[in-house]
Amino acid sequence: MLNELQDLENQALAALEHVQDEDALEAWRVMYLGRSSRLMQVFGELGKLSKEERPQVGQKANEVKKTLETALASRSEALRRMALERALSTERLDVTLPGRPFARGRLHPDTQILRELYQIFREMGFQIYRSREVETDEYNFQLLNFPIGHPARDMQDTYFLDVPGRGDNPLLLRTHTSPGQIHAMRALAALNPEDPPPVRMILPGMVYRYEQVDARHETQFDQLEGLAVGPGITFSDLKGTLSEMARRLFGPQARTRFRASYFPFTEPSAEFDIQCFQCGGKGCAVCGSGWLEIGGSGMVHPVVLRNGGYDPSRYTGFAFGFGVQRIAMLKYGIPDIRYFWENDLRFLEQF
Ligand code: DAH
Repeated sequence: MLNELQDLENQALAALEHVQDEDALEAWRVMYLGRSSRLMQVFGELGKLSKEERPQVGQKANEVKKTLETALASRSEALRRMALERALSTERLDVTLPGRPFARGRLHPDTQILRELYQIFREMGFQIYRSREVETDEYNFQLLNFPIGHPARDMQDTYFLDVPGRGDNPLLLRTHTSPGQIHAMRALAALNPEDPPPVRMILPGMVYRYEQVDARHETQFDQLEGLAVGPGITFSDLKGTLSEMARRLFGPQARTRFRASYFPFTEPSAEFDIQCFQCGGKGCAVCGSGWLEIGGSGMVHPVVLRNGGYDPSRYTGFAFGFGVQRIAMLKYGIPDIRYFWENDLRFLEQF
């Protein structure tokens, strides 16, 4: 009986070597370990054996059973691995195929240029001050030295809000970011009215004008205002700041130029140009004259300083303001300001 069991084990293990797939493996299991297998018969016959034989045969049968079960499990695992290897060896991956495109969102060119400007001025020590878009006549004009009836108001055709009972101080959509200068100075001066802290900030945001819309004019656009106030600030500081901005925006060889001008809230006042980065000042389709007109600037008018809570006998300051879209149009070669808010994906996807 012991010999028979040993033979049975040898035979089963030999047969297992030839098993090549799951079906054959199952047939093998039924044949050697199934309910009507010879091994199971042996277990059934143990009772008929003599007292001496029974434990020996029983132990041997158990050993054979365990050996076969272990062999079955490892063969099953081997078959699984072989199947996987076969699948992998026939699978082909063409690494030269183009990737699947996926839709990617992007920042609006306006946001991109604003962030670039924030970075440039942040590195020069300017903080951002956000001011309201709905203003009063007082802040938008009067405190900036445009009294009622002042002719310079005509340069900024204004959207007034239809709120009755405000007399000479109607509500309006701000026509420029300059009223933020007054808010900013007053907020800082309130911290220490006797000795207000110096100011170095930029004031970005939307402004609104009743314009005839064309390739260069929109009824709303972004401005970036700058304001620096402190003891001993000079026009050279203004020039250095704007030249540095030009270099960072358009490259190290970018040059700036100032032309005498007039704004009620600065004295002296100047418009500033940046030498065209396309033609280097020779004159081309982008600039015409070789210079790009960027915006206005000047030394803060004493009346404006006083209205902001800064004593003009102790403080001086410079200010500037320009159209953000104008910068973006120059930098990216965008020919028409109306593209910015049409939300045409063919335009937006280029940035
Ligand atoms: N606020 C002016 C405008 O919108 C631009 C401007 C000019 C702002 C000179 C300034 C400045 O701060 O100093 O036309």
